[in-house]
Amino acid sequence: MSDNQLANKSQAWSALFSEPMSDLVKRYTASVGFDQRLWRADITGSLAHAEMLAAQGILSTEDHAAIQRGLNEIAAEIEAGQFEWKLDLEDVHLNIEARLTERVGIAGKRLHTGRSRNDQVATDVRLWLRGEIDEISSLLRALQSVLVEKAAEHADVILPGFTHLQVAQPVSFGHHLLAYVEMFARDAERLADARKRVNRLPLGAAALAGTSYPLDRERVARTLGMDGVCQNSLDAVSDRDFAIEFSSAAALVMIHISRLSEELILWMSQNFGFIALPDAFCTGSSIMPQKKNPDVPELARGKTGRVVGHLVGLVTLMKGQPLAYNKDNQEDKEPLFDTVDTLKDTLRIFADMLAGLTVKPEAMRAAALKGHATATDLADYLVKKGLPFRDAHEVVAHAVKTASQQGVDLAALTLAQLQAFDARVEADVFEVLSLEGSLNARNVLGATAPAQVRAQVERHRARLA
Ligand code: ARG
Repeated sequence: MSDNQLANKSQAWSALFSEPMSDLVKRYTASVGFDQRLWRADITGSLAHAEMLAAQGILSTEDHAAIQRGLNEIAAEIEAGQFEWKLDLEDVHLNIEARLTERVGIAGKRLHTGRSRNDQVATDVRLWLRGEIDEISSLLRALQSVLVEKAAEHADVILPGFTHLQVAQPVSFGHHLLAYVEMFARDAERLADARKRVNRLPLGAAALAGTSYPLDRERVARTLGMDGVCQNSLDAVSDRDFAIEFSSAAALVMIHISRLSEELILWMSQNFGFIALPDAFCTGSSIMPQKKNPDVPELARGKTGRVVGHLVGLVTLMKGQPLAYNKDNQEDKEPLFDTVDTLKDTLRIFADMLAGLTVKPEAMRAAALKGHATATDLADYLVKKGLPFRDAHEVVAHAVKTASQQGVDLAALTLAQLQAFDARVEADVFEVLSLEGSLNARNVLGATAPAQVRAQVERHRARLA
């Protein structure tokens, strides 16, 4: 039916079905507005399908050649922005197929042999997502490398470590940054694992029951570089768990980003003053001339909500769907696309921003000297001198109370004052109470001693090389 005929048809309907309503339903059911983004995967999948049909003798060599030529021309048209997407043709698949027939004639109509849009769309989304996962994985590596190099630079910089956001124990800033490297490394593992299940071939499942043509599905999987074929046609066309798994891994990346964002925002506030972010990632206020706001981390923290929201959307979309394909699944695309876009932008921008991060070691140090951050070290010191830990804990609590009453840090008490709490204290206590002493004492695998931090930096460098 031509566009004109379609238009006439809607006009021929009763007054009840007026033109605007018909347009609304058309818009409501069509996906071409967003799924045209899958065009490359759609063409790649079609080329592999046609190649297999020809190899199996289902398609003639001439028809195969015509289809190949036509699809390549269409790819060029789309790339050049010359392809006219038609809402009347509903989705990316029908648009490309109709154009193919326009270009190569009857051979184009043979492409869909042994195939349905149901296995086609599942294949397209998987192919597309596989490519995106690979890009996201390299972006995650780049971000990790930036953090590892910052950690190497600042292995000896000391800041207060917090629990409950209360000063707890001094830690190396490098160690703190490497905590995020661990998170992003696990995120990368999760993505790599999800990729194995994304990279399986639904094509050949046809509408839901498979097909009566002698297809060679393994061949198509090999052509497309897939790890295997989906083994049940009903499952192949209907489940979107691979998309949910990806979204869940993506949501975790964003959750990690949001934690880092929150710290950057805190550290940049005047009350901490630990860091500065490059101006290019901050904005000013239209009313308060003194303001420099950490907009990028704030937005990343906010965008985390939207990525988590997409995950919830996808999970809810899948819930309770009967076998096999349902049109509900058309709704998987926009959340997936937005997740990928948001994640890629965020990872890129964070790598750039963190590369330009400036650290203010003096402010970090001053903060670590408040809050009796080395109280645990004093307790450990007394334990080494023979006091049971519980008693040492109590002794130090008294010392902290006295120091607080005098408005000084534990480390600023005199030797005589400390000895009044326990006679075992000697002059060597001050090394223990120093920030450096505290860090160096924690020289166990995974701990904050600068020597450990440097060892971790080397491990990560080797891993990321
Ligand atoms: N646009 C559809 C989607 O995204 C393609 C599959 C349509 N299949 C169907 N039987 N209507 O899911």
